[in-house]
Amino acid sequence: MHNMNQVKMLDFPQRGDERGHLVIIEGNQDIPFEIKRAFYIFGSDHDVVRGQHANRRTQFVLINVAGTSKVKVKDGEGNEAIFCLNRPHTGIYLPTMVWKDMYDFSEDSVLLVLASEHYDPTEYIRDYQQFVEEIDED
Ligand code: TYD
Repeated sequence: MHNMNQVKMLDFPQRGDERGHLVIIEGNQDIPFEIKRAFYIFGSDHDVVRGQHANRRTQFVLINVAGTSKVKVKDGEGNEAIFCLNRPHTGIYLPTMVWKDMYDFSEDSVLLVLASEHYDPTEYIRDYQQFVEEIDED
């Protein structure tokens, strides 16, 4: 299982009132790392599969702040799990060294991603076989 048992859904504090909703995500408090990077994905067609990589050093939290999508996580040893992102106050925590696919994007999906590291393409593993080999080395 390696790091896959660390994958978990997170519930963020809400401070909405009659003026509307407000959801709070503080680094090192509501999520288990300091936020160094944020990006968001929208306008992906329903049949698109994104991600398809593992990260050697970066941890992520994914939140569908609008719309819905799914995340499939694989541990490289044959185990996989599927999570639905369908509420703006819940997210999924992804540790390092898990393979992830994001798919089934609704038309209105806006997927916010918070990351523990700045972008470094060399810490991405984009070849599944390479990922399995690095998992085996552990
Ligand atoms: P990619 O990793 O393929 O996105 P996803 O994980 O959603 O499938 O990234 C798409 C492009 O954007 C790729 O050329 C790398 C670039 N990129 C950055 O420059 N910085 C970033 O923080 C991210 C996530 C991607």
